[in-house]
Amino acid sequence: MEIESFRALLTEQGQALLAELREFTADQELALATRLRREYRPLAPLGVPPTELVRAAFEQARLRQRAEAKFGADARSMYFTQHGVEQATRRSVAEWRAGRFAALGVKRLADLCCGIGGDAVALARAGIAVLAVDRDELTCEVARANAAALGVAELVEVRCADVADIDTDGFDAVFTDPARRTSRGRVFDPEAYSPPLSWAVEAARRTPFGALKVAPGIPHELVPEGAEAEWVSDRGEVKEAVLWFGTAAAEPYRATLLPGPHSLTGGALPDPPVGPVGRYLYEPDGAVIRGRMVAEVVESTNGRLIDPMIAYVTSDELRPTPYAHAYELTDVLPYNVKKLKALVKERRIGTVVIKKRGASVVPEELRRQLKPAGPNTVTVIVARTAAGPVMMLGQPAGLAM
Ligand SMILES: C[S@@+](CC[C@H](N)C(=O)[O-])C[C@H]1O[C@@H](n2cnc3c(N)ncnc32)[C@H](O)[C@@H]1O
Repeated sequence: MEIESFRALLTEQGQALLAELREFTADQELALATRLRREYRPLAPLGVPPTELVRAAFEQARLRQRAEAKFGADARSMYFTQHGVEQATRRSVAEWRAGRFAALGVKRLADLCCGIGGDAVALARAGIAVLAVDRDELTCEVARANAAALGVAELVEVRCADVADIDTDGFDAVFTDPARRTSRGRVFDPEAYSPPLSWAVEAARRTPFGALKVAPGIPHELVPEGAEAEWVSDRGEVKEAVLWFGTAAAEPYRATLLPGPHSLTGGALPDPPVGPVGRYLYEPDGAVIRGRMVAEVVESTNGRLIDPMIAYVTSDELRPTPYAHAYELTDVLPYNVKKLKALVKERRIGTVVIKKRGASVVPEELRRQLKPAGPNTVTVIVARTAAGPVMMLGQPAGLAM
């Protein structure tokens, strides 16, 4: 999107157009676009042809619809760019982080790489004054418009600059969310982030508190000395990892599960015991697994691993924990498709939920082979163990009969 077109959307005419597109659906697009181009011809702001104004409004309306998954109802009054919506931190995660900064007593923070302002807005809503920096001019205009649209403009100063040129002296904290994509796709080497990981670590250490976002798959050996690494999941999906500085964390790792929030710290327990599959199977949340805190789940469920390399915990007791889904097992058998098919038929099972770890099973393919039919449901968990692949049949604990 051109910056002039975006500015035109902020004029009275642009706002009226966006209001018309609040609820539009793809099948109305052609007729609606024709009508709007006609109606807005005499109104289009100087320098922007009416066709371009209408095109930009449709693009923005589509981006808003896409962004609802991240921002909920806020998305309807926010502004986006294509990259901005893809890279922005979702509201739930940004609010969690902002809450952590606020709890540390942070009052003034430099958000280096602010994008369209997903984090900046959440920080301001937590009462923190934010200097939001991005080097892309259009992105900065969008971030400014978002701060205004969501009523936090007074707490957010957006500056268009390279983060390397920002003096963070006098700030309580720095947060950096580097760009991890180029025109060629996702970047895996943290030194190829923009700005690179090493630069962001230095920046985070220059203020009393610091945090920086990295890919959830960051190798643990890249977590710098003295930092706390936090993995955050939202509704069971790991969204990001963040390196925190200055928090004086007693434990090196943290797994935070949203909504909740549930926050587990650890990472220093010895390797957990391994043993036979018991009555319950626990499937730890992805943030717990990434944070190497499966041992904490083993401990809290009085359990053991089913295999030293597989993140499934088993126990003879049901000890509910927010950090793992528990299944009550009815059968534990060597993996055998023919046998499974016979059981599915015999038990009149029409819905098969398939989970797997360490086994080369393709769930959709297996489900097709099983030909499920009937009123009943089963969860089948296939996993590799030292004794060969096993299939564990059961139900989410609490639902089991
Ligand atoms: C992942 S996005 C930030 C998303 C943001 N936290 C949010 O929630 O909306 C990264 C941003 O960093 C910006 N960026 C990358 N390198 C930069 C640099 N050296 N100086 C300033 N901004 C930079 C990009 O333009 C991009 O908008």
